[in-house]
This record gives sequence, C-alpha cells and structure tokens, in this order.
Amino acid sequence: MDASVLVSRIATLPTPGSVMQTVMALSGSPEVSLDKLTYAVRHDPAIAVRILRAANGYSTDFPFRISSIPNAVDFLGTNRVCSLLLHSSRLSGENPSPFPSFFMLERFWQHAVLVALIAGSIGRHLQRYDAPDEEELFTGGLLHDIGKLALAAGGGGSLEAARLRSVGESLPFYRAENESPHTVVGALLLQSWHLPPELQQAAGGHHDPAVGANRFASVIHLADVMAHLMGYPVFAGETYPPVDAAALAALPLPPERLKLIAGDAIGKLQELEGFYGFTGPCASALGGETREARFPPHGHLI
Ligand SMILES: [Fe+2]
Ligand SMILES: [Fe+2]
Repeated sequence: MDASVLVSRIATLPTPGSVMQTVMALSGSPEVSLDKLTYAVRHDPAIAVRILRAANGYSTDFPFRISSIPNAVDFLGTNRVCSLLLHSSRLSGENPSPFPSFFMLERFWQHAVLVALIAGSIGRHLQRYDAPDEEELFTGGLLHDIGKLALAAGGGGSLEAARLRSVGESLPFYRAENESPHTVVGALLLQSWHLPPELQQAAGGHHDPAVGANRFASVIHLADVMAHLMGYPVFAGETYPPVDAAALAALPLPPERLKLIAGDAIGKLQELEGFYGFTGPCASALGGETREARFPPHGHLI
C-alpha cells in the first residue's frame, strides 16, 4: 500500500494494555497532580502523539509548535489531557486488524522508550556543546520508529516482506524495505498531524545517509543504534543498523560516557516497566534475572 494512502487511513495508534491501564487509573484519580500525569503519559509513543497533536492545534496555522511532552501537558491542562486519554482508551480497544505474529507491541514500546531515554540523556550530556533541547530529543527518540507502529497497526504486510528479505539477504531492516519504508510513513504521519519539523526529521531521517549533517537526527540515530546493540530491537532477531560515522563524529561523546548513558537508560527502562506493571515475556527483569546493559566498546560503533 502506498505510504500516503496508509497514513490517510490511520486515526489512532495502539498502546500496550498495561501502560493504558496504569495511565487510566492515574487519570481517574481525583488527587492526580500535573507532574504525576506528565510522568505517566510521557513514556508511550501513541499517547504522546495524541497529546502533542492536541497541543499543536491540529493545524499548521497555530502560532508556535510544541515538541516537548511536559510543555504539551502544561499547555493543555489536566482536564483536557484526561478527556483525551479517555477517548484514546476507548479507541485502543478497537484495533481494526491484528498485529503480524512477529510484532510485539511491548517490544516496540521498550525500543521506543529506550531510544527516548538515551537521546534525552545524550542531550543532557552535551548541554554545554549547544545540543538540541533534552526534552525535544526525548520526544524525537520516542517517536522515531512510529512508522513501524503504523505499518504494524495497518496489517504489517510490507513489514513482514521487509523482515523476511532482511533476514534472507542479511540486510539491516531499513535497507530491505521497498514499499512504504517506515521512515517515510513515520515522517508523513507526523507531518499530517502537524507535529514540529524536528520530530518529522527524527522519524524520517534517523537512517538517512546524510544524518551527520543534522545534529537532532544524529542524536536520534546514535540512540537508535545503541538500543539495538544493547539487545532491544523492535522485532526479535532484527539486525542492527550500522552507525553513521559523520553522525558519531558530530557528537563529542567519549566511550566511557556512552557506557554510562547506556547503563543509566537500562535502569530507567526497568523502573518504568515496574511502574506500568510489565510482567510478560518482554519485561527486562524477570525472576531476579536482569537483562544486562550490554554495550560494546566504542570500536563496534565505528
Ligand atoms: Fe528505524
Ligand atoms: Fe529504531
């Protein structure tokens, strides 16, 4: 299916059941604070997109663009966010087609959240080098593979074809995509929902050969490669994308710093899985066995 046709048919995207339940329980509580609500909604790609769409006014005529989820929640206020959540939870029960068998929503969620945590952390570590805003990088990381989620929610035919080709020909997944690449679908989707250009760039440009020329896309690209190397791909057995040397060179991050960022992000991901009540096969820590923050030496990146 053509990318623009697919995008025009997507009204909403799915959220893992345990995440939606946690968020709904919190939003229904009379004592919920804006801080708690922000924490709960800022770690899910589909919910974040819904809130950012509302905050950006569903129109390009709006005088300013909001890329940060805390700013979007602040702008909308608790009542408006809660009614959006109620609407999302009703829609999330109406997923029109089942996911393809190789696509697990929880695994997608883990990948997106880990990339967001790493990207935000890179932004924090590079603050004095005039890096893009930490919160905007976090959102860019959260939404970078939104095209894969849209393709899976639409039935996943082209995802499956690309996955089989990537395994058969030992290609990184994105190089095996022919029809409707996830980067094109993701960027088109965010554009059609009037989300800010840097978020469209994160979704559309994180595998781009010219990624090194754009600081925002470079951070998202590096965070994505790191999440793959750490054992958190979107699909089981997905080959990791190669790192772009220009993107890596554009970011002054020594190997020890990258290791620190990786370990810190894994710790936060496990905290979040606990917060949202992940118990299934995708939980990072099960029965006392913790998935290690595997991060190879810097040499593997180059
Ligand atoms: Fe990707
Ligand atoms: Fe990714």
